[in-house]
Amino acid sequence: MTGVLEKIRKLKNERNAVILAHNYQRGEIQDLADFCGDSLALSIEASKTDAEVIVFCGVRFMAETAAILSPQKTVLLPDKTAGCPMADMITAEQLRELKAEHPGALVVCYVNSSAEVKAESDYCCTSSNAVELVKSLPADKKILFVPDKNLGAFVAERTGRDVILWPGYCPTHIYITADDIQNAKSKYPDAVIMSHPECNKEVRELSDELLSTGQMLKFVKKSPAKQFIIGTEKGIIHTLKKENPNAEYISPTERAICPNMKKITIDKVLWSLEEMKTLVTVKQEIRDKAKKALERMVEILPS
Ligand code: 13P
Ligand code: SF4
Repeated sequence: MTGVLEKIRKLKNERNAVILAHNYQRGEIQDLADFCGDSLALSIEASKTDAEVIVFCGVRFMAETAAILSPQKTVLLPDKTAGCPMADMITAEQLRELKAEHPGALVVCYVNSSAEVKAESDYCCTSSNAVELVKSLPADKKILFVPDKNLGAFVAERTGRDVILWPGYCPTHIYITADDIQNAKSKYPDAVIMSHPECNKEVRELSDELLSTGQMLKFVKKSPAKQFIIGTEKGIIHTLKKENPNAEYISPTERAICPNMKKITIDKVLWSLEEMKTLVTVKQEIRDKAKKALERMVEILPS
């Protein structure tokens, strides 16, 4: 392994590359990365890095977002099949039809969406700034929220706004059930329950905190609690343990694993840098439109 890591370091310098990783990546990838974060932090990092090459350890929509925000950079996804099933639950054509049914409504799309869907949207958001973004929109406007019905419902609950939901969802987060949370809580009655807003309503209602992965990391740092039930993908527990080794982290189910996030391995990162593959690009006409929605997103920071 040391040999592979050494080769990655060397190639990274030669290529002037930066390795960005999402909080759900395998532990060894999070350790290897130059920057690890949630979707919003990664988008901001991708837009401001000086590196010429971005190796994106995450899923396709994240690499596409980097390619849209930094079109002059080379963006590589070490496994071209690492996609997000939720992002694939709406097409640009379906969104155009939805818009035609609701003329005058504003379209907010979760960053977990294709570049084509972003290009059809007015605003883009992540789980860390969705509530702030929707609060900032004119009160008389109807909102179409795509593709995640759970994040959309969470936004509607927090803002009191009229939000029309698309029936998309994250197949990993729906594996976390209310029973799983209740079982974990009965074993660890003092634990704080932190869940991701991609979880279903029952899980959201049982949770003490609803946070993006980046917000979870910040919350634990400040919290006096010593046990946390983690209602999101298990990968985040790696960094939680590293940053706060004295607390205990309980995953309510063994099923909270995103298979696409786990497709990226150390060997694939090396291959990616050696071969400069797989290149992620977005056609200019799509990019220009999607960029506007994304730029609005990176300007709205969570409170
Ligand atoms: P965040 O890291 O932005 O909370 O996103 C979670 C997610 O599901 C990314 O695919
Ligand atoms: Fe997509 Fe869910 Fe995996 Fe995130 S955890 S990449 S939303 S499938």
